[in-house]
Amino acid sequence: MSIQLEKVKELIQLREKARLGGGEKRIEAQHLKGKYTARERLAMLLDEGSFEEFDMFVEHRCHNFGMEKNKFLGDGVVTGYGTIQGRLVYVFAQDFTVSGGSLSEMHAKKICKVMDQAMKMGAPVIGINDSGGARIQEGINALAGYAEIFQRNILASGVIPQISGIFGPCAGGAVYSPALTDFNIMTQGTSYMFLTGPKVVKTVTGEDVTQEQLGGASVHTTKSGVAHFSAQTEEDAIQIIQKLLSYIPQNNLEEPPTVKNTDPIDRLEDGLNEIIPDSANKPYDMYEVIGAIVDHGEFLEVHADYAKNIIVGFARFNGQSVGIVANQPKFLAGVLDINASRKAARFVRFCDAFNIPIVSLVDVPGFLPGTGQEYGGVITHGAKLLYAYGEATVPKVTVTLRKSYGGAHIVMSCKQLRGDINYAWPSAEIAVMGAEGAVEVLYSKEIAAEKDPEKVAAVVEEKKKEYNDLFTNPYEAARYGYIDDVIEPRNTRFRVIRALQQLQTKKLINPPKKHDNLPL
Ligand code: HXC
Repeated sequence: MSIQLEKVKELIQLREKARLGGGEKRIEAQHLKGKYTARERLAMLLDEGSFEEFDMFVEHRCHNFGMEKNKFLGDGVVTGYGTIQGRLVYVFAQDFTVSGGSLSEMHAKKICKVMDQAMKMGAPVIGINDSGGARIQEGINALAGYAEIFQRNILASGVIPQISGIFGPCAGGAVYSPALTDFNIMTQGTSYMFLTGPKVVKTVTGEDVTQEQLGGASVHTTKSGVAHFSAQTEEDAIQIIQKLLSYIPQNNLEEPPTVKNTDPIDRLEDGLNEIIPDSANKPYDMYEVIGAIVDHGEFLEVHADYAKNIIVGFARFNGQSVGIVANQPKFLAGVLDINASRKAARFVRFCDAFNIPIVSLVDVPGFLPGTGQEYGGVITHGAKLLYAYGEATVPKVTVTLRKSYGGAHIVMSCKQLRGDINYAWPSAEIAVMGAEGAVEVLYSKEIAAEKDPEKVAAVVEEKKKEYNDLFTNPYEAARYGYIDDVIEPRNTRFRVIRALQQLQTKKLINPPKKHDNLPL
């Protein structure tokens, strides 16, 4: 065999060794936990044969605690690039089979390299996290590695999409990289995220809690809102990532991809003409409206189980990607509260950063009153949503279906927050507040003076009617041009598509500034 062939053989052997990560035994242990390996995950995520790996031969350079003998090619993370549905993406997947996927100086350098490359090329970064956190033997070098990653997350935010899959442990400060990215997808039963684990919690607070209760997928998708999606299996999680990418552009200078649409744009949905119940206090399901108007009824919901009083997610109108924000009358009457405001604000800002038009479907009775909300800072959190809509320069189409009261009316993409096209259904009620509350405030003296309860009821009814006749309709707002048109509900799909078509060349630039001061 020639010297060159010998060297080629050595390369092949080294590659084989690197592909084994921490070795067969640890791969088997990973599988026994119901988890795939880093390479298996990337193979599922990327188009077949598209993966090009970087830094397969990287090793750590730590000498503490006998680490010289604990070296593995690749150092616990597989990095590189490939394509998803033909589009370039940069990827890293932590390899739990090598020192528990813990992050060393060199491991971090590998991640930073793909992040830098992604920024140069203007392509998304997808990270699959499965790690015991900072590699303890490396001390400050591991912490520095995390900080390098965080800094890149920050600079890449709003420039390229960043998506985190949490497919295993993600604990300690490590959680801050996913937290800085745009979307977190967690797998049920096999992943968790927390700043301090159950043992520390027990020591500090005395609280007994399992990993799952503290930071499992269901906790973060229902209670904290830290994760946007939870998936039954890793396969499902990968599919969510792929689908998500199909709605969003490669970077902030590109438009989102359009797909060929086969759903008729003038499809009439007669059911929408009858979807609003006669009683103002009766709910209906906003998912039915979304399903009826978007292409093929397809909707990728974000944060589906968190703050269900507002619905956000991606859909298409005539093949064009949009972000949908919709109050859900079926849950807490669609009221805006702290969590709903935060959820929707973050989504609106993502859409705006990545040139995705926003379609808002409004049926909101107002902000949730009470000490719980006030003490929690609903003023600041509500302001986030207001801010997000007001600063957004992407096309904004709003349809008011029923209630649009008070501050919540303003927040939900009203005309004065630079809503481009604001439609209302004939059932819309656009006013400072509902009739009940308004009559109580306006006629409190008259009501107090009247002793006879029957007469009180009659006065209240009469005044409510007067108020409803005047305000509880869309025409008062339309009279002042605050609503561009009152539309037939069954025609909503067509009208939204026409509005979006008209807005395709929209150009709006906010005043230059170092950065904004969003009420955090
Ligand atoms: C070095 C680590 C490690 C770490 C795990 N390993 N975490 N090595 N640094 N942080 C190693 C283990 O020693 C073991 O090596 C192998 O990975 C697999 O770990 P196991 O414990 O056997 O696996 P498992 O039982 O599944 O438990 C996984 C785990 C546990 C829950 C993640 O390993 C664990 O609690 N690790 C420590 C987590 C932690 O406290 N990390 C620091 C967080 S603070 P061998 O050779 O025996 O197979 C932090 C700060 C970041 O990250 C700050 C950023 C700003």
